[in-house]
Amino acid sequence: MKNECLITNNEKIAKDIYELTLELEETLAPGQFININVNRPDLLLRRPISISNYENNRLKVIYRTVGAGTKALSKIAIGNKLDILYPLGNGFPLVENKNVLIIGCGMGVAPMLYLAKELSKNNNLTIILAYQNKDYAYLTDAFDNYGNVIITTDDGSIGYKGNVLEYLKNNKLNFDTLYACGPLIVLKNLDLKYRDIKEGYLSFESRMACGIGACYGCVINTKNGLKRVCKDGPVFKLGEVVYD
Ligand SMILES: Cc1cc2nc3c(=O)[nH]c(=O)nc-3n(C[C@H](O)[C@H](O)[C@H](O)COP(=O)(O)OP(=O)(O)OC[C@H]3O[C@@H](n4cnc5c(N)ncnc54)[C@H](O)[C@@H]3O)c2cc1C
Ligand code: FES
Repeated sequence: MKNECLITNNEKIAKDIYELTLELEETLAPGQFININVNRPDLLLRRPISISNYENNRLKVIYRTVGAGTKALSKIAIGNKLDILYPLGNGFPLVENKNVLIIGCGMGVAPMLYLAKELSKNNNLTIILAYQNKDYAYLTDAFDNYGNVIITTDDGSIGYKGNVLEYLKNNKLNFDTLYACGPLIVLKNLDLKYRDIKEGYLSFESRMACGIGACYGCVINTKNGLKRVCKDGPVFKLGEVVYD
C-alpha cells in the first residue's frame, strides 16, 4: 500500500541517529519495514527502514544518517507528509511460552523494540542491546519493561565491554528461541553457532530497488535457492541462509 503520512516527529536521539514518527492507522507487524520516498527528485529509489514501534496510530522508525537519502530524510520537518510503501516484508513469527533471547546490534536494535513488546506478552525475555559506544546508543531504557536487558559496547563506555559474540562466549544464557538483527557478520556467527541447537529468526538487510518483490535486486542465497529479502524476508529462520 502507498500512503502520504503526516510527520509528527523527526528528532535526533543519538549521534547520527534519528527517530521519525508518522501518523498511520493500519497496524504493521514486528520485523516488517516501510519504503520511504525521501522527497528529493535526484534520489529515485526509496529507502527501506524497519518498523521500530507502533502504538495509537503512530508508527516509529529509527534511522542512521549514512548517505544522501537518510540525510535528506533527517531534514524533513514535522507537519510535512511522507510518501511511504507499507507493510513490506514477512515480519517475525511470534512464539509463546518460551525463554527468548533477543539480540539487536547497532541499527538492528530499532526493530527489536516492537518485537520485544509483543513477545513479552507470552514469553520470558532476555534482551541484548549491542552498540559501538555510548555515543551511538539509543533506546537503552526502552526495553526495561519487557525483560532482562544487557547492554554491550565495543569500548565498554556503557555496559559490558566487548561485542555481543564475546558476551555470548563468556556468559551462559538459557533460552529456547533466538531473534536477532544486526550486521551480516554478527548474523552469520549467530546462525553458525545456534542453527543446529536452537529455534531462531534472523532479520537480514540487502540493497533494495523496488522493495516489493518485483525486480529480484535484493536476493540472498538460501538452502531453497535465491530468495528476495524484501518479499520472502527480511526474516529468515536459523539455518536457512547460505553464506559464501
Ligand atoms: C529491510 C531493511 C530494513 C532496514 N532498516 C533500517 C533501520 O531500521 N534503520 C536504519 O538506519 N537503516 C535501516 N536499513 C538500511 C537503510 O535502508 C540504508 O541505510 C539506507 O537506505 C541508506 O540510504 P542513504 O541514501 O542514506 O545511503 P546510500 O548513499 O544509499 O548509502 C550509504 C552507505 O550505506 C550503505 N547502505 C545503503 N543501503 C544499505 C543496506 N540496505 N544495507 C547495508 N548497507 C547499506 C551503502 O553501501 C553505503 O556505504 C534497512 C535496510 C533494509 C534492507
Ligand atoms: S528489491 Fe526488488 S525484489 Fe527485492
